[in-house]
Amino acid sequence: MNKTVHYIIGDGIGPEVFAAARPVIDAAVAKAYGDSRKLTWKELLAGEKAFKETGNYLPQETLDTLAQAELAMKGPLGTPVGGGIRSLNVTMRQVLDLYACIRPIKYFQGIESPVKRPDLVDMIVFRENTEDVYAGIEWASGSDEAKRLIEFLRSLGKNVDETAGVGIKPMTPMGSKRLIKKAIEHAIAQRKPSVTIVHKGNIMKFTEGAFRAWGYEMAAEEFAAEVMTEAQAKEGMTKPVLLNDRIADAMFQEVLIRPQQYSVIATTNLNGDYLSDALAAQVGGLGLAPGVNMSEKLAFYEATHGTAPTIAGMDKANPGSLVLCGAMMLDHLGWFEAAKSIHDAMDKAISAKTVTVDLASQIPGSKTLGCTAFGELLQKNL
Ligand code: NAI
Repeated sequence: MNKTVHYIIGDGIGPEVFAAARPVIDAAVAKAYGDSRKLTWKELLAGEKAFKETGNYLPQETLDTLAQAELAMKGPLGTPVGGGIRSLNVTMRQVLDLYACIRPIKYFQGIESPVKRPDLVDMIVFRENTEDVYAGIEWASGSDEAKRLIEFLRSLGKNVDETAGVGIKPMTPMGSKRLIKKAIEHAIAQRKPSVTIVHKGNIMKFTEGAFRAWGYEMAAEEFAAEVMTEAQAKEGMTKPVLLNDRIADAMFQEVLIRPQQYSVIATTNLNGDYLSDALAAQVGGLGLAPGVNMSEKLAFYEATHGTAPTIAGMDKANPGSLVLCGAMMLDHLGWFEAAKSIHDAMDKAISAKTVTVDLASQIPGSKTLGCTAFGELLQKNL
């Protein structure tokens, strides 16, 4: 089995974290499968490197290749300052319809955390990436558009103050169902016990409430053999995956009080933004977390940190986020042995207190390694 991974090296610390992380991912595959499985890496241009070589920050050729690709990985991209250039990340997300933003959150022993039992957190958040109040449909207080919209709303019997700024929250059955479907598919494939729909449907009935209802409806239609609801479980039904739902504010309490009861989370854009950052803080708030944005076809892994310009080129950056992106990609391919060896290697390095400078400040008595040396240590630990 040979899989092609298209990669964008990224700006700032991107090149150095890629140079440290890629050999770890390749070595994990070689160690687990010898020559029988292999990743072939093909570079695509974006960001500063693309601008230098082509005069364009995001060449059409890159987008065309990604549109046909199955796997891709990127380092962080800086947003070029000035000149009305849109964020490259946002552009790629929209053009490629990367509708699911997926972040696993898991604790590494030895990291400082603000809670007593961070080790109980083992969740993966599926956040809808294209709809909701992030759709960018909003007008400033006093603008002509806001005034016209308020007038229209008044004609519908809704009394909105004429000085209000207004935003629109569109959510569709298609957008909601495809996200929740991805979360359920993940739970089935990775043998996770539950999927929790997180919403604010008690207040926003026709958007957040509908998200929940569409989720249950789709699950009943498409996953009747694998998925049961909480009510069905109480009646004695046993199926591999429990589908339940929680109201967002209650969920923020639940993940602190009973994190062990939650596994896969499927949620709307705004809730997902808040919840994934809160969960990351709960396990130590690391820039170590991996992430992936997915369309129907493409799984596009990305380091969740930025370009860290102040340490770029100094061999100080932590390549951990990209390394763990690699593990996530291998899990996605079903290459579980290789993925697990990466997690174990990372666990071993952190428990031995040999870490990069960003983690060293959180771990008393630790030994600091550079980016390259940390990558080499991970390879040795595989
Ligand atoms: P940042 O994540 O680059 O830096 C925040 C802090 O974390 C800094 O102190 C930095 O030195 C440190 N840091 C980040 N990654 C690290 C690593 N791997 N190892 C060690 N230390 C690390 O966020 P900031 O400063 O807000 O953004 C800088 C640039 O990155 C901006 O142009 C921003 O637009 C871009 N960015 C890109 C992202 C992406 O491509 N996914 C995500 C976030 C920011």
